[in-house]
Amino acid sequence: MQVTTQEPRSQPIYAVDRLIVDLYTDKRTIRAVDDCSFSIKPGETLAIVGESGSGKTVMTLGPLGLLPEGIAVHFRGKALTARGDLLAVSGRHRSAVRGNDFGVVFQDPLSALNPMRRIGPQLAEQARRFAGLSAVAAKTDAISNLRRVGIADPEDRYWRYPHEFSGGMRQRAMIALALASRPKILLADEPTTALDATVQAQILALLKQIQAEDGLAIVLITHDIGVVAGMADRVAVMYAGRIVEEGAVADVLKTPTHPYTQGLLSSVPDLDTPIGERLTEIPGAPPDLSSLKAGCRFVPRCFAATPSCALARPPLAPLSSVTSTTPTHRVACFVMQSKCQEPI
Ligand SMILES: Nc1ncnc2c1ncn2[C@@H]1O[C@H](COP(=O)(O)OP(=O)(O)OP(=O)(O)O)[C@@H](O)[C@H]1O
Ligand SMILES: [Mg+2]
Repeated sequence: MQVTTQEPRSQPIYAVDRLIVDLYTDKRTIRAVDDCSFSIKPGETLAIVGESGSGKTVMTLGPLGLLPEGIAVHFRGKALTARGDLLAVSGRHRSAVRGNDFGVVFQDPLSALNPMRRIGPQLAEQARRFAGLSAVAAKTDAISNLRRVGIADPEDRYWRYPHEFSGGMRQRAMIALALASRPKILLADEPTTALDATVQAQILALLKQIQAEDGLAIVLITHDIGVVAGMADRVAVMYAGRIVEEGAVADVLKTPTHPYTQGLLSSVPDLDTPIGERLTEIPGAPPDLSSLKAGCRFVPRCFAATPSCALARPPLAPLSSVTSTTPTHRVACFVMQSKCQEPI
């Protein structure tokens, strides 16, 4: 897979290829991500959805070395940027690539902002470190980034502490911090989940505006189907460490095909769903990721499962029928694959 940081926009700027992530806790080994691949192009938004614990955060932030400390992690596969494979470089080089190419927005701004330090100098330090600016230029840049994310009176706010900002303003400041290194890819892990609906809509509009101006690629983890419909070009659905369905948002939301996706979207009426419409729970529980069996992991909860579903892992393959092919809409389900191949 080739990746690029420049035009043409049809080339991926970041590609995760057959990623496997094992987490070692005191007692168990958890396969949090099991053979997942995705890629993203400049200017594109990929949403990642799935139940809690399905591996969204580990898949997205793991290759950047951003998992919580205190847990041993083993990666296999590739995470390709134009500067190389994030998983093949040393920790120091990885943080340099991360700082240069990636901006990260978390649900909790205090994951990124130091509560003990004033906001502006934190932004300026990031710009000095990764964008190579002088001290004076970095301060000007920080003020301009604060203004850009909609913070009024940025010269004054530069000297404020995070606790002096409201929740929405802290989120804006974190976005300014993420932009300080002039990233090409923004990874946003539930960036608006903790905010009320009005502020949420403002923050999403801001992300869209920045994306349009800078051509940023955005990987957006969300539980909110309204956010997927309003923000994303493509969506990947995760279940128990695997991507079970992936495609253009219009295809996946209009024709959810994997039984898990169907269950997840069952309460959502249509693409006009307003922001704030959260994905529903499906009866039953996901499997224990420390003792996984062969076959499709959704079998115990699946309305369509046949005995053979438990025997082999279904590949994520394009949907096809006798008369049409939808190569960008892919699903990992033997039953639905075979249905799509029946004459229509
Ligand atoms: N620090 C950790 N220690 C132990 N297990 C972890 C840790 N972080 C993640 N896991 C496990 O890895 C798996 C994937 O977790 P991950 O955080 O990626 O899920 P997620 O889809 O982001 O969930 P959520 O929607 O709740 O954020 C889960 O089984 C989780 O319990
Ligand atoms: Mg998560």
